Amino acid sequence: MAHQAIINVDMPKDIINRNIYGHFAEHLGRCIYEGIWVGEDSPISNTKGIRNDVLAALKQLQIPVLRWPGGCFADEYHWKDGIGPRDERKRMVNTNWGGVIENNHFGTHEFMLLCELLECEPYICGNVGSGTVQEMSEWVEYMTFDGESPMADWRRDNGRAEPWKLKYFGVGNENWGCGGNMRPEYYADLYRQYQTYVRNYGDNKVYKIAGGANTDDYNWTEVLMSNAGAYMDGLSLHYYTVPGDFFLGKGSALGFPEDEWFMTMKKALYMDELITKHSAIMDKYDPEKRVGLIIDEWGTWYDVEPGTNPGFLYQQNTIRDALVAGLHLNIFHHHADRVQMTNIAQTVNVLQAMILTEGQDMLLTPTYHVFNMFKVHQDAELLPVASSFGAYEYEGHRLPQVTVSASRNSAGAIHISLCNIDHQQKADLKLELRGMDALHSAVVSGSIITADRMDAHNTFEHPNAVQPAPFTGVAVEQGALAVQLPPMSVVTISVQP
Ligand code: AHR
Repeated sequence: MAHQAIINVDMPKDIINRNIYGHFAEHLGRCIYEGIWVGEDSPISNTKGIRNDVLAALKQLQIPVLRWPGGCFADEYHWKDGIGPRDERKRMVNTNWGGVIENNHFGTHEFMLLCELLECEPYICGNVGSGTVQEMSEWVEYMTFDGESPMADWRRDNGRAEPWKLKYFGVGNENWGCGGNMRPEYYADLYRQYQTYVRNYGDNKVYKIAGGANTDDYNWTEVLMSNAGAYMDGLSLHYYTVPGDFFLGKGSALGFPEDEWFMTMKKALYMDELITKHSAIMDKYDPEKRVGLIIDEWGTWYDVEPGTNPGFLYQQNTIRDALVAGLHLNIFHHHADRVQMTNIAQTVNVLQAMILTEGQDMLLTPTYHVFNMFKVHQDAELLPVASSFGAYEYEGHRLPQVTVSASRNSAGAIHISLCNIDHQQKADLKLELRGMDALHSAVVSGSIITADRMDAHNTFEHPNAVQPAPFTGVAVEQGALAVQLPPMSVVTISVQP
């Protein structure tokens, strides 16, 4: 079947919040330590302990917001252990992730420095599961209070005179699981209590995010919105794409069979249904859409690479991950009215990472490249698309073969992002840009990332095996864009009037 879509250029909708392109870095495996923090004495080139190669690569992505310190780690993290002279900081066991020693060398000051260097907003997740109201309250005071107070004075003693700006604060993480195994009614009450003491000091206004549901736990969203909706600015949702069974075998990152490719695409596309259904519940309590849906953990989760620590969640990243990233970002764009932030898990060396490191080597993953190609959509106007795409058929099962989203930026440039998830068939598309005059005189260009193997990936020996290339499969024909998408491809097209 022919693939066709109409992009309604003259009917712009919501703004695609740049925070949809957010990231998440936890004290887990080699994400923070080795991946980001190497320490000031490291032979690896660094800025005050933060490795420069990773910093430069992340800066290129224009990361808008970074979530830290967890994850499950957040509900066991005691921030006071991570400030002051580093060699005097308390050592603890990272019970969630491999039982390794956490030396607390990367704490609040180091995280805020990282955000300053990346020019991104910090998003800090507080400890509800094993922390106190006082501890959470004092953390916010330490970071954001400008006057004389025990916490602000302590911050000054530790070398930071000015308070930091802190907009995004999460009140706990996965409180239905590692964050305390709570029932929604109980957590909703705790949320109301804890958030009361997350104060706004001076002109610092905190956007408070309540710990949200796991996948399709719609009751959690219902109870949180009903009992605590008035006290939150955002409500989170976590969903990971796991091709197999989470406990019995998730599937390998490399060398997987065709049916796992198909299943991965199917499970990634499920994000659309999850957002639709959680949003419908939120609409009931918040028809004005004041409360943002914050998908602060998403991405692929496979079995760890053979021979690596099972608690470190280190996995390779292939063209399949590029497709998963593209599918999610297209879905998030379409829900820009409710989805105000998302944070892919996790930035370096963990799960669906942007970057992998080995000693002083670093590589950019296919997922990184998709984020780099799609960043043109940040803060742009979403353009509604009506599509009629054919199916990707596999052993009697069907999925939409192509997904698309489009936006227009403040300079008037239109960007169209496309994913062809079929692992064998190309797709020929006709894209009509309704409401746009003079397409024939527009400058049309594009980028593509694709591969000829389902598990094509970058290695430290061949770091550029999978990388974007200029896209030549687009032309203006009879007043529309004619596009040829190879199998397993992600494309971004730019139309400059
Ligand atoms: O991202 C890894 C873990 O997944 C996080 O710590 C936790 O919140 C989730 O279960």
